[in-house]
Amino acid sequence: MVKINIGGCSSFVKETEYKNYLEKALQAFDVLESETGAGNDFLGWKHLPSGTPESLVKECEDIRDDWKSRGVELVVVIGIGGSYLGAKCAVEALSHSFARELRHGGSMDVVFAGNNLSEEYTAELVDLMKEKSTACVVISKSGTTTEPAVAFRIVKQHIEDTYGRAEAAARIVAVTDAHKGALKTLSTQEGYRTFVVPDNVGGRFSVLTPVGLLPIALAGFDIRALLAGAAEEEKALSERSEDNAAVAYAAMRNLLHSEYGKAIEVLVSFTPKFQYLGEWWKQLYGESEGKDLKGIYPASVVYTTDLHSLGQFVQDGARVMFETVVTVEKSNRSVIIGSDPQNLDQLNYLAGRHVEHCNAMAQLGTKLAHIDGGVPQLEISVESINEKTLGAIFYFFEFACGVSAYILGVNPFNQPGVEAYKKNMFALLEKPGFEEQTKAIKARLAE
Ligand code: PA5
Repeated sequence: MVKINIGGCSSFVKETEYKNYLEKALQAFDVLESETGAGNDFLGWKHLPSGTPESLVKECEDIRDDWKSRGVELVVVIGIGGSYLGAKCAVEALSHSFARELRHGGSMDVVFAGNNLSEEYTAELVDLMKEKSTACVVISKSGTTTEPAVAFRIVKQHIEDTYGRAEAAARIVAVTDAHKGALKTLSTQEGYRTFVVPDNVGGRFSVLTPVGLLPIALAGFDIRALLAGAAEEEKALSERSEDNAAVAYAAMRNLLHSEYGKAIEVLVSFTPKFQYLGEWWKQLYGESEGKDLKGIYPASVVYTTDLHSLGQFVQDGARVMFETVVTVEKSNRSVIIGSDPQNLDQLNYLAGRHVEHCNAMAQLGTKLAHIDGGVPQLEISVESINEKTLGAIFYFFEFACGVSAYILGVNPFNQPGVEAYKKNMFALLEKPGFEEQTKAIKARLAE
């Protein structure tokens, strides 16, 4: 289960203020739990951990087994935003850091595409597909998003050309809306196996639907444990209490933002395995809270790496941020620093120590330094990195996001701002139906 420690904020805020924000957080908790708030038709994510049927888990595992028996070596997972970041986060956190170099895992390699429009990336993906027996999971709730649609057209053509249309139908799985969208139409026509993104679950809350579960299972990880960890968290966070970790997190971050002008929250981890946890979390909080001219800007760093790049700013620059540190209490692996008779590097004082001990001392030293420098610090901790704790982290941040956005006074479940760039892009690409906008944008550019 996820634990929270707000001790690193106590020198910055008054106890009475925190109590006041805890009260606000409990009111927001009531709105979320009674399902009476803005966007309440998008609350399907709340009971995914406890409500996911065994049959769905089994279907994901069956596809994994089927593709292995077909000799598939490479799975291209196509999707963007919420249709990509959760799975990417889990695969990065759970994989051996050098899996590719070691050819580790015994499972199929999972790579991601359709999350950008870079021609070079796409060409390099084609290079890879030419070398490896390839299958594809294409994920788009709307079924119409341009980036994954472009990538899918290219990957689909490669798979059809290489293995024939009938085998392609067995090597392509779509995750999309139950009824509508171009991807649904195409899947029906081609006979692809499909999974449904539930109507009442938005992209950034969809990691525990087949959007995340299928790619994570294909990468060889235990999605039952992922769901079990999330289910434990679902139960823990359903308790209406000031000790509820999501309530405490939502209360403190809103207090720091609204009363102390902290405009930026930096999600910190001390392991590169959590780099994409930062990316997933940024989308979750950025898209959920950043609207109506409100919101806390979500940033992320991996220390100690980024202490040597952004550490200076955090310690000493504009005092606009607070940190939320995701702590992993125990490393899954052990490496002890050896002794050297010459000691030319003068590191013998660390001989016999675990590398993780140095990391823990760096973390503690950073906490004290940043607090001294005027940066409040919240801490979220889990025992170790595995499927179960990752499931708990996903659910914790989703639930806390709902509570937090309701304190802030925004609808956590819409994303009207995402459309603006798309309209301009379609006009510039001269998409049919955008003729008026094309004319207008060309006139604007000619000014
Ligand atoms: O969280 C969201 O809703 C978005 O980030 C979407 O996931 C993203 O835009 C991709 O949309 P779709 O799955 O419809 O292709």
